[in-house]
Amino acid sequence: MATVVLPAFCDLHVHFREPGQTWKETIRTGAMAAARGGYTTVCAMPNLDPVPDSLEHVKLEQDIIDRDAVIEVLPYCSITKGRKGLELVDIKTLKDHCVAFSDDGSGVQSPDVMRRAMETAAASGAILAAHCEDNSLPGTDPRSEWGPIERDLELCARTGCHYHVCHISSRKSVSLIREAKAAGINVTCETAPHYLTLCLDDIQDHGRFKMNPPIRTADDREALIEGLLDGTIDAIATDHAPHSAEEKSKGFQGSAMGIVGLETAFPVLYTRLVRSGRVPLDRVVEALSKAPRRIFGLPENPLDQVVIDLDTPFVIDSSRFASMGHSTPFDGWEVYGRVLETRKNAVTVYKA
Ligand code: DOR
Ligand code: ZN
Ligand code: ZN
Repeated sequence: MATVVLPAFCDLHVHFREPGQTWKETIRTGAMAAARGGYTTVCAMPNLDPVPDSLEHVKLEQDIIDRDAVIEVLPYCSITKGRKGLELVDIKTLKDHCVAFSDDGSGVQSPDVMRRAMETAAASGAILAAHCEDNSLPGTDPRSEWGPIERDLELCARTGCHYHVCHISSRKSVSLIREAKAAGINVTCETAPHYLTLCLDDIQDHGRFKMNPPIRTADDREALIEGLLDGTIDAIATDHAPHSAEEKSKGFQGSAMGIVGLETAFPVLYTRLVRSGRVPLDRVVEALSKAPRRIFGLPENPLDQVVIDLDTPFVIDSSRFASMGHSTPFDGWEVYGRVLETRKNAVTVYKA
């Protein structure tokens, strides 16, 4: 059996639902799912209740993390109070208590609010991670994603803030970010395993194919792979977004948006991109382990390791996930790349 030891993964984008929606996931179960997927660091999005938009609220989340998380969980604070897109949080004060700022789950609609967020972020050395979605357009229109990216790249060029684009899913988003990087703009971005491996042809009338942004065309998927290969796309993040079985049982139209991803990311990417010869293993490891830490300024610990079996095929069985969420488009896929063990600072936090 060929086992490899890789630097443990780091996910810049997960939803752990606590505080607020603990019927979907808790920090304890989310962190266990992360460990089972080979991750030792994850960044938790702020669409929580209460929203971590003040010192008091983010401390409440941090206390649960300190008590329950088997791996490192770093909270995001929101960009705007209550994630309502209107009033900025106190970025300067909160900066030392979170990994970055995001209104994920919603896009910041107002260019004026975004400009002021960028100015403050630039002045305080904070990172803005943007969920890009124009609410005046249907999400299926890729312009709903790339329109706000185009707007923000201009603001970013003027303010110099570190602007990170979440879960890009369209060809035009890749090309806008490629051009911006060439022009020296301070932008980084992530995509997710489902955008790199699925397209419209794969969608069935089932909640496990429902997420935001949506799966797009084969041409969009192709552009994302090209963007990963040429370094336009820095990181692969899962957007692990658990919901209850009930919330995901209402078909493609009616189900809640979001799929779980922590326990399938490596095997899906390894099987579909690496074994198929499309992307070198090194590039995937870079995008899962090294780049996320580098772009968010997180230290790399050589004693954070994941042990993986590259040779034995297995079938993804969502009923065995450590996550409380079980909805994934990859259920039943035969894949390679099972995580055998995850070590955080040389301590085993997961063993198969
Ligand atoms: O699919 C999604 N799920 N997209 C989002 O923007 C939010 C996320 C969630 O929190 O469930
Ligand atoms: Zn999002
Ligand atoms: Zn998200």
